[in-house]
Amino acid sequence: MTQTEVKKDIHWVGAVDWKVRDFHGYSTYKGTTYNAYLALDEHPTLFDTVKKGFEGDLLHRLRSHIDPAQIDYIVVNHVEMDHSGALPEMVEIVRPKKIFCSDMGHKAILSHFHRPDWPLETVASGQTISIGRRTVQFLETRMLHWPDSMFSYLPEDRLLVSSDAFGQHWATSERFDDQVEMTELMRHAAKYYANILLPYSKLIPKLVAKIQELGLVFDTIAPDHGLIWRAEPGRIIEAYAGWAAQKPAKKALIIYDTMWHSTEKMAHAIYKGLVGQGISTKLLDLKSNHRSDVITEVLDAAALVFGSPTLNNGIMPLLADFLTYLKGLKPENKLAAAFGSYGWSGEAVGIITRALEEMKMELVAPGIKVKHVPTADDLAACLALGDQLGRRIQERLA
Ligand code: FEO
Repeated sequence: MTQTEVKKDIHWVGAVDWKVRDFHGYSTYKGTTYNAYLALDEHPTLFDTVKKGFEGDLLHRLRSHIDPAQIDYIVVNHVEMDHSGALPEMVEIVRPKKIFCSDMGHKAILSHFHRPDWPLETVASGQTISIGRRTVQFLETRMLHWPDSMFSYLPEDRLLVSSDAFGQHWATSERFDDQVEMTELMRHAAKYYANILLPYSKLIPKLVAKIQELGLVFDTIAPDHGLIWRAEPGRIIEAYAGWAAQKPAKKALIIYDTMWHSTEKMAHAIYKGLVGQGISTKLLDLKSNHRSDVITEVLDAAALVFGSPTLNNGIMPLLADFLTYLKGLKPENKLAAAFGSYGWSGEAVGIITRALEEMKMELVAPGIKVKHVPTADDLAACLALGDQLGRRIQERLA
């Protein structure tokens, strides 16, 4: 039987979504979980709910511990629908005495569910409530990753219920970090950070400082997605600190789409130049690599090289998609360059270059345009671009 007790009398009561494959643009090819937690105490308390459609799983798990009508409090750490979609049904069944949420959560609950009659109670950052033998302290984590987001800290249990932060989209029968393979767990955690939390990286050190300032001591982190960190909670905190710093590794990505392989030939020549300088380099054809997996690689890449042929005075749709997605995630500290083939008008390299400038990437050299099919000289120029980028990466990391 799956172990679901997080701490004595605190249980995981969430749902496993084995089938979801798209999370607003993020490829969840291994599914996800919607974690909710039940603290059995004088005032039984439910932390978060689940996505609409998974109410039955939540209720089934709650009923294995308690009659849901006996739950006194619901804590809404985050209003996004994957955690609050089941809230209306739960409120009907539980009839909670209080629903605790942040000030921004209060506004978001009203604008999602339009139920001013619900017993909403706003809590401030640092505020504590008693649920019986335990206290719960709330910590607002605005924009990590919504304005309403907050953590719940249970000091007696040394437990941090961390909402979306420290999560992973990974459906498993296991619930804890020590029950799965750590390398795979960290890979899912990195993908989750890169695709969801990257734009808010500047807030991570502030959050860690706030946790220290409040003196929160915990040995378990229970996020709203994926595995619970009980063996190595420090490992994910440390990883977040590293990812938030966006410190580049000796690594480059060549991200491209191609029509009749001319742009692809250019990509391979640039690759040779980079590898010749000892740079770990990945060739990422967007037809073969999902945008959200490419973003995971972007996390520690020092240089991003983008290629597209010109198509109808523009760029290939997969690269347009990727650049839009990337821009929203606001990566920092990236060297960049553009390349591409064309038939007659040749706008693609200019379009890519302007997108890179808008993202404040450091362009290492002017983009390379090639008419129709690259000559040996064209490919030599591409190789030289890779070589130049490789040397620039080494200078930056020296
Ligand atoms: Fe898992 Fe922001 O919701």
